[in-house]
Amino acid sequence: MKLIELHNFDDDGFQQAERGTPTPCIGEVVIKVHAASLNFRDFMIAKGLYNPNIELPLVPLSDGAGEVVAVGNDVTEFSVGDRVTSVFWQDWNANNKNRMISTGSDAAGVLSEFAVLPKEAVLPMPDYMSYQEASTIPCAAVTAWACIKAANIGSGDSVLLLGTGGVSIHALQILKALQANVIITSSSNEKLQRAIELGADQTINYNENPEWGNEAFALSNGGVDLVIEIGGESTFPQTLNALKIGGHISVIGALGGFNVQLNLLEMVFKNVNVHGITVGSREDHMELNQFLEQHEIHPIIDKTVSMDQAINEIYSMPSGAHLGKIVIDISN
Ligand SMILES: NC(=O)c1ccc[n+]([C@@H]2O[C@H](COP(=O)([O-])OP(=O)(O)OC[C@H]3O[C@@H](n4cnc5c(N)ncnc54)[C@H](OP(=O)(O)O)[C@@H]3O)[C@@H](O)[C@H]2O)c1
Repeated sequence: MKLIELHNFDDDGFQQAERGTPTPCIGEVVIKVHAASLNFRDFMIAKGLYNPNIELPLVPLSDGAGEVVAVGNDVTEFSVGDRVTSVFWQDWNANNKNRMISTGSDAAGVLSEFAVLPKEAVLPMPDYMSYQEASTIPCAAVTAWACIKAANIGSGDSVLLLGTGGVSIHALQILKALQANVIITSSSNEKLQRAIELGADQTINYNENPEWGNEAFALSNGGVDLVIEIGGESTFPQTLNALKIGGHISVIGALGGFNVQLNLLEMVFKNVNVHGITVGSREDHMELNQFLEQHEIHPIIDKTVSMDQAINEIYSMPSGAHLGKIVIDISN
């Protein structure tokens, strides 16, 4: 089988390799991976920015979908032929909140023709989805779900999404199914037009208006209920401005830097609720799958590339050229 491994954090740190087809041990499931999808985290891992102490070589990527081809002797939960996805946290479930092992970072990932995963790191994929679509769920979509759930968002609430990357576009789709009002920002008017076609109610170009938080406050008539925060240093002050009293911030990333200067007075006066989100548990993923099935949501894929193009795409993630998800087709 063909796979890709990360050997060091330099610009040429990945290598393609050939190995024998794996067999499962007790508690394991072998998946013929049909598709994998990229997250910004995969770029951070490749550059040593996520966890410089990561054990190398590492098969990267947390998010994949495929078909079960073998199971360990004791595995009764899955059968050969089942269509499944990976799960981001291999050990975060109802019985264990002290999660430590994430797929594609602390344990081998799915950028491989076959992936061996513990059964706890596998879930059935939504029936109606293609492998490509399902491969986008484990990190980005579960994160969007966890952010929305933390703030208990429902019909009529307003949410501000920052940028049009993987998490934001999954969040947009979930929020419209919940009948929430969505304001979305982007550096590109073309992407904002696409966001409107996908259901966004209002848009702001954050390059054209650096005071986009104030604009979101005005557009939502007194502030938004939730901001999904991806920018950190470069966005947090405007995020605070956008919020209503008692609003929520789900903090997930710091694309614009980690050293935020906080206006604590504004946070106090606005009774701000801040949630640190690290994707979600197995149960969050299951709950989301059910929601996606109920609403037949099809994840938005910007482009699908071959395994040979995967390395280049990982290094290109910071360009932000995509809207939604980039998928690697591993079936050919
Ligand atoms: N904590 C968690 O559980 C978790 C889970 C998933 C992701 N994350 C983090 O969340 C962030 C987004 O992840 P992703 O996978 O959705 O990324 P992505 O697909 O690469 O999307 C990034 C998009 O964010 C926008 N952006 C970039 N810099 C920005 C800035 N300074 N201000 C506002 N928008 C900006 C751009 O949108 P436009 O092109 O439209 O301008 C860019 O295309 C990353 O930091 C990632 O590490 C965290």
